[in-house]
Amino acid sequence: MIGTARRRRDGEAKVRGATRFVGDMPAHGLLHARPVLAAEAHARIIGIDTEAARAQPGVVAVLTHADLPLAGGSGRAAEPLAREEIVWAGQPVALVIAESEAAAEDGAALVDVDTEWLEPVLDLDAALADGAPPARISARAGDDDSAADAHGGGGDEARGGDGDHGGAAASPNIAVRQRLQAGDVEAGLAAADHVVRGRFRTSWVHQAYLEPQSTLAWVEPDGTLVVHSSTQGAFMTRQGLANTFGLAMEKVRVQAAPLGGAFGGKLMIAEPLAAAAALVLRRPVRIVFSRTEEFSAGNPAPGQLLELELGATADGALTAIRGRVVGDRGGLGDMGVEALSALLSAGPYRWPAHDLTALGVTTNRVSPGAYRAPGAPPAAFAVETLLDELADELDLDPIELRLKNVLVAGDKGLDGQEIKVFGARECLERVREHPLYAQRHTLPADEGVGLALGFWPGGLEPAGAICKLDSDGRLTVVTAAADMSGIENAFIAIAAEAFGLPEEQVRVVTGDTGSAPYGGVAGGSKVTYTYGRAVERAAEEAKQRLLDVAASELEIAPEDLEVADGEVRPLGAPGRAVAIADLAAKVYTFAGRHRPIEGYGSTAQVSRAPGAAAHLSHVKVDRETGEVRLLAHVIAQDVGRALNPALVEGQMHGGTAQGIGWALLEELAHTDEGQLQGGTFAEYALPSTDQVPPIETLLVEVPAPDGPFGAKGVGEPPVCGVPAAIANGIAAATDIRLGVLPMTPARVW
Ligand code: MOS
Repeated sequence: MIGTARRRRDGEAKVRGATRFVGDMPAHGLLHARPVLAAEAHARIIGIDTEAARAQPGVVAVLTHADLPLAGGSGRAAEPLAREEIVWAGQPVALVIAESEAAAEDGAALVDVDTEWLEPVLDLDAALADGAPPARISARAGDDDSAADAHGGGGDEARGGDGDHGGAAASPNIAVRQRLQAGDVEAGLAAADHVVRGRFRTSWVHQAYLEPQSTLAWVEPDGTLVVHSSTQGAFMTRQGLANTFGLAMEKVRVQAAPLGGAFGGKLMIAEPLAAAAALVLRRPVRIVFSRTEEFSAGNPAPGQLLELELGATADGALTAIRGRVVGDRGGLGDMGVEALSALLSAGPYRWPAHDLTALGVTTNRVSPGAYRAPGAPPAAFAVETLLDELADELDLDPIELRLKNVLVAGDKGLDGQEIKVFGARECLERVREHPLYAQRHTLPADEGVGLALGFWPGGLEPAGAICKLDSDGRLTVVTAAADMSGIENAFIAIAAEAFGLPEEQVRVVTGDTGSAPYGGVAGGSKVTYTYGRAVERAAEEAKQRLLDVAASELEIAPEDLEVADGEVRPLGAPGRAVAIADLAAKVYTFAGRHRPIEGYGSTAQVSRAPGAAAHLSHVKVDRETGEVRLLAHVIAQDVGRALNPALVEGQMHGGTAQGIGWALLEELAHTDEGQLQGGTFAEYALPSTDQVPPIETLLVEVPAPDGPFGAKGVGEPPVCGVPAAIANGIAAATDIRLGVLPMTPARVW
C-alpha cells in the first residue's frame, strides 16, 4: 500500500459532481445570506439605509456591524462587517438574509451605503511615500495580530521600533517591521568579488479554487453554534468563532466540509458572517460567495516589493545578503506574509552574514491571506534570479554555484533552527543529470533553459488521531484534518499498513471538532506529515491493544503474535489463528472485560522537514511579441517517501501549473480608484492547458525520520521555484532579466 500509485478516492465523486459541498447541504428552514460590498476603497460610513432592502419580499433581515453579537477585537474574524471605516473596495459592509438566494441578492442591491470619501492608499510605493495618508484612520495601537504560524518560519513580530532602518520611517502605514540579522554584512559585501542587486515587484494573485468559500451555520436548542464550512482548519475555525462571539469553546462545533480547492485561501474565511446571522436570527443560515465576492473579499496572495543585494567570492562562495521585503497587508492589516518571505528570500543557502528587513504595510486593498507557500514564490523569484545572474557573471555553472552553498542536514537555517533532514542537494543533482540541462547550450537562439531551486520550511502544528476497531473488525481513523489533498488515501494506506489490515477494512472520519482529537490546519504542507504520523502511531497503538486481547484469548504472549491477512496468529505458526473481526466483536460484547480496541497518536515531538524542489524550465520567447511559450518543464522534488506516487506527482503538476500562473499570467488588476477590474474566471488569466507544457516529475526520496514511513509534506514546495526558473529561462533566451511578475508579453518585449 505504501509507495504504490492509487487513484484518489474522493476524485471520482468530485469529477462526477456527486460530492456534497456546503452549498449542497440541505437544512430545514434554511436562510440565505448575501454580503453588500463597499464600492469605495477608502471611506467613512455615515449611514446605511436598509429600509428598501428590508421591504423586499423574502428578505428576513439586513444586518450591519452594530447588529452583530461581537466580542470586540479587530481583524477580519472579529469585525466581519466594516465598523465605521471602509478600508477596501469590496469590504463587506452589510449582510442581507432572505428566504431565497434570489431575494437576498435583490435585497443586497437595494442597500444604500452613505459615505464620506477618504484618500485611498493603493499601492506599496504610495503607502511608504513621505507624507502618505493613512490607509486606515481608525487603526488602534496594540490591535491583536492574527497572522498565524500556520506556515512555519516567521518569528516574533516587532512593531514600530527601529525606524532608522530601511527608510519609510515616516509612513503611518507600516503595520509590522521585523529585522533578521546576523554577521557583518558590510564586511561580507566588501569581501565579495561580485555583488548583484535587484528590485522585484510581484502582483496580487488569487488562489482560484473552484469551490467558493461557503458556510452553513445554525444554533442548537442548547445554544451550541454548529458550523459546516469549507475551512482548512476545523479547530482553527472553532477557536476563531468562539473568540469573535465570546462563546465558550465547547459551545461551538465545526465540521470541515469537503473542499473544492483551497490552497491557503480557506484558512480565514466567511464563517463569521453566517455564524453571526444564525446567532441573531436563530435559524440556519448559509452563505456561498459568488465568484466576484471571492475575488474582491477573499484572501488572495498580496503584492510584494523585494530589494536584495548579495555577494560572492570568485569561486562562488556566498559572502552576504542584504535586503528588504515589503508585503501588502491590505486594509485590515491583520495578516501578512512578509516576515516569512524575508526569511525565504535568502533561499536555502549558507550565508556568513545576512540583514533582511520585513515590512508589513497597510493599504486600501483587500486583506490578504495565505496562498500555497505564502511569500515563497516572490522570495525565490528574487534570490534565484539574482543567483542566476551571479553565476553568469562569475562564469560558474548555476547548479555548481548552488551546490557550493546549499544547506544540508546539520546546518542551521536563518531562523537558527538546525536542519535535521533536507534534500535540496539531491534535487539539484537530479536535474543536473537531466538531458535538458546539458542541452541548454545548444538550443536555438530564441530558446533558453532556466534553473531554480524552490524552498519551503514546512509547517508544524500538533495533530492527533484515533484509530478504533469497530465491532465488525473494521478500523476507523478519526482526525480533525480538513481534506484538501486526498488525505483519505494517505490515512487509509498508513493505518492499513501500520495495523496490518487490507485497505478495504479501513475508513476515515475527519474534520469534526465534536469527535476528533485536536489537530492543526490543513496547510503549510503538513497534513500527511503530522496527521499522517499521528495516524501511524494510533494504528500501532491499536494494534498493540489488539495483540493484548488476542494474547489472552490464545494464551500466547503478545510479542509472539502477528497481525496479517485479517487475523492474529502466532509468529511463524499459522495454525492457530483468530480473526480480527471475531476479536473485535468479542471485545464489544464483553465491554466490561476489555475496553474497546483503540489507539491514540499525536505528534507533539516531531521536527520540521523542509521541502525542496529543483526546476528546469525550457522557454521559447517570441522576439516580435514578447510572448513566452513553455516547451517543457522538469521538477525534481524531495518528497521524503512517496506514499502514493500518483498523488505526489499530482501535487507537483498542480504546483508547477500554479507557478506558471504566477510567472506569466495572473494578476488581480485594479482601477485607479482601487476597484477590482474583473471578478470572474473569464477575466482572470489562469494557465490554460495549452499554456502548461509537459511536466516531467522526478521523485527524490530523502526520508524524514519523523514523517509517516519517511514522507514529507509535498503540497507547497513545487510552486516556489517556478517563476524564477521561467525568468531564468527568459534570461537565457533573451538576456533580459525581468523584476516584475507576471512576465507578460508587454514586459518581456
Ligand atoms: Mo496553505 S497556503 O498553508 O493552505
